Amino acid sequence: MSKEYDIAVLPGDGIGEEVVREGLKVLDVAQEAFGFRTKRDALPYGADHYLSTGEMMPDEAFDRIADMNAVLLGAIGDPRIEVGKLEFAIIAGLRFKLDLYVNLRPIKLLHESMCPLKDKGPEQVDMVICRENTEDAYAGIYGFLKKGTPDEVANQAMVYTAKGTERIIRYAFELARKRGPKPGADAPQVTLIDKANAVRAQDLWTRIFAAVAAEYPEIKTDHAYIDAACMWMVKNPEWFDVAVTPNLFGDIITDLGAMIQGGMGIAASGNIHPGRVSMFEPIHGSAPKYRGQNKANPLATIMAVSMMLNHLGETEAAQSVEGAVARLICEGRISSLQAGVHGTDELGTMVAEELKAGLRC
Ligand code: IPM
Ligand code: MN
Repeated sequence: MSKEYDIAVLPGDGIGEEVVREGLKVLDVAQEAFGFRTKRDALPYGADHYLSTGEMMPDEAFDRIADMNAVLLGAIGDPRIEVGKLEFAIIAGLRFKLDLYVNLRPIKLLHESMCPLKDKGPEQVDMVICRENTEDAYAGIYGFLKKGTPDEVANQAMVYTAKGTERIIRYAFELARKRGPKPGADAPQVTLIDKANAVRAQDLWTRIFAAVAAEYPEIKTDHAYIDAACMWMVKNPEWFDVAVTPNLFGDIITDLGAMIQGGMGIAASGNIHPGRVSMFEPIHGSAPKYRGQNKANPLATIMAVSMMLNHLGETEAAQSVEGAVARLICEGRISSLQAGVHGTDELGTMVAEELKAGLRC
């Protein structure tokens, strides 16, 4: 009996459906080639479902997903619905209710032609950001006083727990150990990115980082305030290997990171609880203006499928998918990652075919 994985497929809004379709096309080839099966459960949640039923994402759905192996998500967000409502219910809902405390965002440039930075190539842009994914400003503790009056007060709490901080920092050190030193480096490195000089509550991060680092003497450590980290990521991306950061800064800096690896067309992420059901998604949003036009780039979702395969333990399949994307880019067969240059289905088919071709030789 070959292995079978239970996967929830949640295309969501905007371009979600099209990019997920292409991700599954590649998954079809990978499972056939590597001898495993997937049982896919399509979930209808998103703007259309909400507008027709009034339901965002019911508790039963979260309960069902909790017993599965992985979730593949397209995108959530629709201009017909109040800002943040569905994003909070579905994306943050999955992250919080399934306790997916690692938001893993690799920033790996596959070819220098895709990088907007002068004189930077794949050797310089190869890092992984571990974004804490369950706390900080995202904890949802906010409110308004005297709303709509000139005396209005608005407040949102940045919340960090010792447990939440420790587990993401430890994950980063374990990841650095697993990755080993980057080519030319003598040790792996973990950089803490925070703003403890202004957000004094992040002193908790400073202290826990130091305590965890002491358990990993073979790993080098570094520190950058988030403002400086944005600067260094543009000027000297080669300084970063593994980095760990609170939720909100992680959200921001990984968009910057996405650009230096070629843009939103290729940047993927994993929302992970090691050993449990985890969720994989492209970093880009729902891009409603491209919906149904066959213009959206599905490579980010395909890279998310590769991350999902890694999580499932199908590491060879994961590497083969990434390898197929890399070859298409490096050989110039994918000429641009911009939306509309290649068709959505064209790109999915190219990767699927390249995956097959790579496995034959
Ligand atoms: C992301 C997104 C989400 C976030 C939004 C859609 C709530 O920007 O996954 O990076 O802020 O985490
Ligand atoms: Mn974001």
